[in-house]
Order: sequence, then structure tokens, then C-alpha cells
Amino acid sequence: MAAMTIESMDWDGAYREDGLFDGPPPWNIGEPQPVIADLIEAGALRSDVLDAGCGHGEVTLALAAAGYTAVGLELSDTAVAAAQHSARQRGLHNATFAQADITAFTGYDDRFSSVVDCTLFHALPVDKRDAYLRSVHRSAATGADYYVLVFAKGAYPADMTSKPNEVDAYELHAAVGRYFDIDFIRPAPILAKVESLPGLPHLKLPFDRDALGRVQFPGYLLHARKGVISRTAK
Ligand SMILES: C[S@@+](CC[C@H](N)C(=O)[O-])C[C@H]1O[C@@H](n2cnc3c(N)ncnc32)[C@H](O)[C@@H]1O
Repeated sequence: MAAMTIESMDWDGAYREDGLFDGPPPWNIGEPQPVIADLIEAGALRSDVLDAGCGHGEVTLALAAAGYTAVGLELSDTAVAAAQHSARQRGLHNATFAQADITAFTGYDDRFSSVVDCTLFHALPVDKRDAYLRSVHRSAATGADYYVLVFAKGAYPADMTSKPNEVDAYELHAAVGRYFDIDFIRPAPILAKVESLPGLPHLKLPFDRDALGRVQFPGYLLHARKGVISRTAK
């Protein structure tokens, strides 16, 4: 893999398939992560829903197909264009997408009843987490549900230079707890196509694979709510 850290990651280049990965990025599994699909299936989300760092928009698209109004915000223009194309193809008018830096976006104050972070948290530089949380907190309505699916520490080899900013449960609790009331943090798998990650396919990874051969990396699912009392002044 090219000498790049997650902090200097060219996200648009990853979607343009410019050679960082062997083909499409490993998180592009063509459907929502199963843990998030289960939340949708269980009716755990409420419109309007923000899909933060939506990539190709599979969460937003699945929500829209289920009748929700959903908005996907994403840094990469290439990914936004792909998501918009899919929405048109599937006739989903209640799915909208826009290019935005999720650590500094405005224009949606108190709008969303649910916010979903499907593997965005570990893609952000650690020093941007607070700005990100402040921004999504501002966009959430009082009482809104906030879900985060994030890699757990140890998911990737310790010496991998461009690995995601994995978390342990305590640092996740500390970061999110500055803004939201935490309900639970529990272990949850994250599927990835390791074939596009140079080096990893040859490792005997100690993780199960699903029926399609995708590795089930260890992660956490966090659920929190935006409380009545503002925490943003902390
Ligand atoms: C691991 S991918 C997950 C994408 C998508 N949520 C999914 O499940 O397929 C992380 C995503 O976060 C996006 N991202 C990274 N930094 C961002 C930022 N500052 N603002 C918005 N999106 C960002 C990347 O472009 C990428 O699409």
C-alpha cells in the first residue's frame, strides 16, 4: 500500500480507484453493513435520517427504499455522484446526497431524528473527532438517536501505516459522551473485502468470514441520544 496515513487519505482518489487499493475500496460491499441493515429492519431509525460520511450511499438508499427521508453527506464528489446515480436508477426521490466536510457542515440545525455513522468515525483524524461530533450534534433534533459503527482496536495489524483510527470502548465513550447521552456500546462486526487491501489477503486473519468471503472485522456499535440539556458548551 502507498505510504499514506488515514490522516492524509485521498478519499476521492479511493473512489476513483487511483491505485491505493486493488480496485474498489474494501468498505464498498454493495449494501449497508448488516448491523445497520438490522437497525433499519427493526425500525430503530426515524426520519429524517442523516447518513454521515455516506460513501456510495447504501445506507441512505436502503432507508429511502424503506420509506424514510434520508440525507447522505460525504466528502468525496466521486462517491456523491455514484450515490446520486444509484438513487436515480432506483427511483428513490426521498434520498438526497451532498458533498460536505462532516467536521464542519452547517445548514441542517436540529433537522435529523436519527444520525447513522456507518464506519466514518475511524476514518476521521483523531483531532477532528470533536469538531465532527459538534457538527452532527448541531444537526440532530433533541431526542435524536445516534448510531456509530466503528472498528475496534486490534482489527488491523499494529504496524499497518494507513489503518483506520480504531477505538477502544472507553475512548469511544469519552469522545461521544461529551455531546450525547450514551445508551450502549456493544461488539459488532464490520464486513470488508480484504482482496482490495494489498498484503492482507495473504494473512491468516483470526476473524470469521461471511458466506461471500468478506472478513468480519471486530467493531463496536454505539447508540446514544441527543439530550435536552445542551452539552456543546463543555
Ligand atoms: C470507511 S468509508 C464508509 C463509507 C460508507 N459510510 C459505507 O458504509 O460504505 C468512510 C467514508 O467517510 C468519508 N469521509 C472521510 N472524511 C470525511 C469528512 N471529513 N467529511 C465527510 N465524509 C468524510 C470518506 O470519503 C468515506 O466515504
